[in-house]
This record gives sequence, structure tokens and C-alpha cells, in this order.
Amino acid sequence: MRLSIIVPTFNEASNVEELVSRVAATLRHGTADAVDAELIFVDDSTDDTPERIHSAAASTTFPVRLIHREHAEGGLGGAVLAGMHAAESDLCLVMDGDLQHPPEDIPRLLARFDEGGADVVVASRYVADGSSSGLADRTRVWVSRLSTALTKAMFPLRLRNVSDPMTGFFLVDRQAVDIQGLHPRGFKILLEILARTSLRIAEVPFTFAERFAGTSKASVKQGIHFFVQLAALRFGKMSRFAVIGAGGAVVNLAIVWALLQFQVHYLVAAVVAAEVTIIGNFLLQERYVFNDMAPAAQGVWTRFAKSFTFNNAEAVIRIPILALLVDGWHLSAVIATAITLALAFVARFMFHSLVVYAP
Ligand code: GDD
Ligand code: MN
Repeated sequence: MRLSIIVPTFNEASNVEELVSRVAATLRHGTADAVDAELIFVDDSTDDTPERIHSAAASTTFPVRLIHREHAEGGLGGAVLAGMHAAESDLCLVMDGDLQHPPEDIPRLLARFDEGGADVVVASRYVADGSSSGLADRTRVWVSRLSTALTKAMFPLRLRNVSDPMTGFFLVDRQAVDIQGLHPRGFKILLEILARTSLRIAEVPFTFAERFAGTSKASVKQGIHFFVQLAALRFGKMSRFAVIGAGGAVVNLAIVWALLQFQVHYLVAAVVAAEVTIIGNFLLQERYVFNDMAPAAQGVWTRFAKSFTFNNAEAVIRIPILALLVDGWHLSAVIATAITLALAFVARFMFHSLVVYAP
């Protein structure tokens, strides 16, 4: 078999018949040059979607399979993974069940894969000629844009060649992916695949259509899942970054204490300790946090200059922000300090992965 098409469904009763017939037509099923393919629905529905899939399957000779799950482990992402496990072909195409991903685009994804050089072909809304016009409203458009930008900032290397890491429409060679290593939560299965594995990525534009029938399952809960997923995927880097930052703070204090023993003025001691810590942290980050990204970034002196400038600016800016929180917002000094340190941590991490180690 040449292609397994995996469609996760949750209460898509009025869409599945249309989907089956359009997929079969697009792949020229029943003709001499048909693409040898199967369609696998991985369904977590509570409505009559399974029955509708059965009747759609009965009315065509196109191979349609149904995996109905009683417990929707991992939601949409878990469903896609279950489909990839069950697929007969290594070449897996994933698409939504509501026809927002037009089946008529499948041949273009296949053709791009056949050109070679790619483990995954991403159907993108954000590449020239692509469009996200099917996104329901302005808010969805902005949520999609912002979360895409944030995600790309968090994975500048892995996602360098992909404009739409949040799409749910893609073709992937199962053999290139470590399926066991994936831990999908919620909607963003492609992000999980791309962030965990270094794959050769190709993109083709497509127009995100309107939903054929029914309602979207996107929700605030899915949004929270997404942030948890981002943090989990980035956990290794961020925690090493945090450990170095905390170690640096301890060293900073020790240097101040030591200089005070030699009667050095406390302000001079503070500045010397801060600069030594900034330089030490930079060297440790080079070695233990961003070692994978450094080779593709600018030269080490440029990286150092950016990191050094940012950390000094941040140390200076932190003081007026602290004053604002304590004097303006009447927060306790301890809480205000904790807030500024937490903000500084996030800002520092983002700046380093976005700017200092940008490819
Ligand atoms: N099996 C299963 N289990 N399927 C699910 C579940 C679940 O828990 N939740 C949603 N689905 C199915 C839906 O039935 C649909 O076929 C597909 O996943 C996408 O869900 P929609 O409700 O249509 O969400 P959307 O249109 O907001 O999201 C789509 O667009 C995003 C980009 O804006 C999806 O394609 C996302 O994957 C994509 O990232
Ligand atoms: Mn949809």
C-alpha cells in the first residue's frame, strides 16, 4: 500500500460521508491510475459518527477503517498517533475530518514527497499562495499568528524551515519519526513530531477552508494544553538555563562577600560580581544549553556581545520596574523582587534563543 490517510474525528457525523467520497474521487479510486491508499478514522465521538463512517464505508470499495476509542487518550494528538501505529503504509497523511483540509490537495502533498529530499511535507497556510481564510474569526487569526510566532521562537532551529508548525494537514514518513518518543497532548501533533525529531521538511501552500458542517472543538482548554506542551518540549533547555542562572546568583553573592572582606566598596563589589557572573553564565550556556544552536548562529564574539549587552541592560532595567511594582503597585518588596526575577528569566531565555543563538 502506498498511502495511509489518518483522520481524527470527534463528533463529525455530518462530515464523514462527504470526506470519504471526496478522498476516493481525488485518488481516482476505481480507475487504472488510482493511488493505492486507505482511510483510517480514529474516532473518539460521542455521537453517531461511527455509524456514519460504517455506512460511508459500505457505500464505496475504497478501503475505510475505523478505530473507535472509548477513552480518548491524548485527544486529537493521541488519535493521530494511534492511526500512525495502525497504518498499513509507512507514508501517513494526516488531515482533519471537517473538510477544512481539502482532500483535493492530497495529490500535491504526495507529488512533493515524491520529488524527494523530505521526510515530512507540511501543508501550510502561511506560505505564499497559502491562506488561513477558513479561520472562524479575527481572534482565531491572531491567536494562530501569535502562537505560531512564539512556537517558532522557542524552536528556531527545528522549525527554521516551516512556516506553519501548527497545521494539522501533513504527510510524514513514519519510519523517520520515533513514534514511541512522542507524548502528544491535545491538538498540536505536528509540533510534537517536528520538535522532537530532526526531519527534512518541505512545505506546500494550501487554503484552509471553511468547516463543511458541525462545530469546532478548539477551546481554551486546548490553548492551555498547547502551553503545557510547549513547556514540556522545551523543558530540558529551560531547566538547564535555570540551573545555570541559579548557580550564577549564588556565585554572585559569594564574590560580593569575598570582596567585602578585602574592604572593597560595596558598589564596586556588586558591579564586579555581576560582570563575572554574566561572563561565567555565558560560557556555561554556550557549553550546556545552546551547544546545539551555537554552530548555526553568528560567531562567538557576536553572541557574547549580544548576551553581555542584554544582561547588563536587563540588570539596569530591573531596578525601575522593581520600584514601579513596590511604589506604584504597592507590592511587598519580596514579591516584587520575585516577579522581576521571574520576568527576567523568561525574557533572558527568549532573548537568547531568539536573538543570540538565532540561525
Ligand atoms: N479523535 C479525536 N479526538 N479527534 C478530535 C479530537 C479528539 O479529542 N478533538 C478534535 N478532533 C478532530 C476533529 O473532529 C477534527 O476532525 C479535527 O480533530 C480538528 O478539530 P477542529 O474542531 O476542526 O479544530 P480546528 O479547526 O479549530 O483545528 C484545526 O486547525 C488547527 C489550525 O488552526 C486542526 O487541524 C488543528 O490540528 C490545527 O492545528
Ligand atoms: Mn476544523
